[in-house]
Formats: sequence, structure tokens, C-alpha cells
Amino acid sequence: MRITVRDLAEMKRSGQRIAMVTAYDYPLARLLDEAGIPIVLVGDSLGMTALGYETTLPVTLEEMIHHTKAVVRGTQRAMVVADMPFLTYQISSEEAVRNAGRLIQEGGAQAVKLEGGRSVVDQVRRIVAAGIPVMGHLGLLPQSVHQMGGFRVQARAREQIQILIEDALLLREAGIFSLVLEGIPAPVARAVTEILDVPTIGIGAGPHCDGQVQVIADLLHLLPGPLPRHARPFLEAGELIRDALARYAEAVQNGEFPGTAESFQLPKGFDTAWLD
Ligand code: KIV
Ligand code: NA
Repeated sequence: MRITVRDLAEMKRSGQRIAMVTAYDYPLARLLDEAGIPIVLVGDSLGMTALGYETTLPVTLEEMIHHTKAVVRGTQRAMVVADMPFLTYQISSEEAVRNAGRLIQEGGAQAVKLEGGRSVVDQVRRIVAAGIPVMGHLGLLPQSVHQMGGFRVQARAREQIQILIEDALLLREAGIFSLVLEGIPAPVARAVTEILDVPTIGIGAGPHCDGQVQVIADLLHLLPGPLPRHARPFLEAGELIRDALARYAEAVQNGEFPGTAESFQLPKGFDTAWLD
């Protein structure tokens, strides 16, 4: 049985912190599941970390379904949450329900996540009414990158903080089972976490959230270049993989790979003379 929304509510009640990580493919989904990560997010960050786009905006619903299927096949215990990509929920509640439904029905996810506050509460209510658990997402909203003027910390002024807190309560009224808080000051995230009766999951939102989420490429430092301030590399995987590939190339070049152990022989006694 997979982790359910009830398990997560119980984790908040009992003060057990929740570790969420993104995954986009089968191998890493398996590793996350085996490591006991309770929530795997198929984030639309896959546009940037798996497909090489500059933002999450080009990601399509078909791409999300494709990656969600792979992650679901790689997990047994984790709850799989799939991001609703840009323009699949903003237009109307009808489209939002249909598209959320496809991530569940075709993708196999157990829940969906979408970005925004008061502008999407009707969509959230309708998706929840269809029986689909919804995770909210407030603060830094990557799908609004052009409106924010870059990936920058949000809710740093009193008015914005009030709006964010109201949005959190509106989303909760609409039925969210959990809320991602991205790129906001730690004290603001603490206030939202205290107000809400469902788990908050932070990324760049300080230590007071009920859980934390990290993008797998940051967590393992898979891509070259500096990490965002909020990330910590728990492994230098990019470096390790690059070294391993260079060693492989060298072993091929100098004829050291494959060796006898990695090669197949003919049965004992086979006369190979005619092959020569
Ligand atoms: O797409 C994503 O990875 C996300 C997390 C950063 C929360 O939405
Ligand atoms: Na996302």
C-alpha cells in the first residue's frame, strides 16, 4: 500500500517531518522508493533538469504523463504527485479537471499539484470534487517567472505576506491536502505552517515547514554549475558520473575494456581453427 493523504496528515499531527524529492524517470524513482522517501514529485522542473529548457513553461501535459508513468512504475510505496504544467489548469475548471484526471488515469499518479492562490481556488475545488487529491504551491511560482521578473524570493513585504497567508487559507478551504511553499522567508513559512492543519512542504522556505522538497538534480548535484542557495548537494553525482564516463572512454581507447570477464567464449573443445 502506498503512502496516502491520511498518512501525511498523521505525520503532521505527530511531528514527523516529510521528505519529498522530484523524479522524472524509472531508475531514480526506484532509488527514492527504496530510500523510503514518502512523496515523489514528478515536477514540471523536469523541463529544466531533464529536458534542458530554461524555464518550466514549455512542458506539456503529454510530457508530464510520459514521465509520470515511468516514475509510477519505479515506485511501490511512495505517493506520486504529478505537476500540472502551464496552461493546463488556468483556462477553466473543466479543463483543469480533465487534465488532472489524465495525470491520474493515464499517468497513474495519486495526486496533482498546481501553482497559485486565489486565481486557482475554483479549479482546486472542482478537481478535489472529482476525487483527486490536490497539493497547492505558493510563494515563488516558476510558471509565473516572467511576471516575477526572474526566480526570486517572494513575500518579503507585509502586503505580500498577508496575501500569501490568505491564499493558503483559501486553498485549504478549497480542499488541498498539502501545500508547497517555495522561495519565501523562513518566518513567513513558519506562520503558514502553524495556521494550516495540513502539511507544508518547503523549498527555500526555511526549517519550520512540515516537510522539505528538493529537486533531484540539486540534491545529487547532477548538472554542472552552482546550486541554488536553498540546495545542499548530498552527493556530487555529476562529478562522479563524468569521471566514470572518462574512465570508460579511456578503457575502450586503450583496449582494456572489455576484458576476459566481460567477454563470451565458445564451448570448451570447440575447434576455432577455421575461424582464424
Ligand atoms: O517542479 C518542481 O520540481 C516543483 C518543486 C520545486 C516543488 O514544483
Ligand atoms: Na513545479
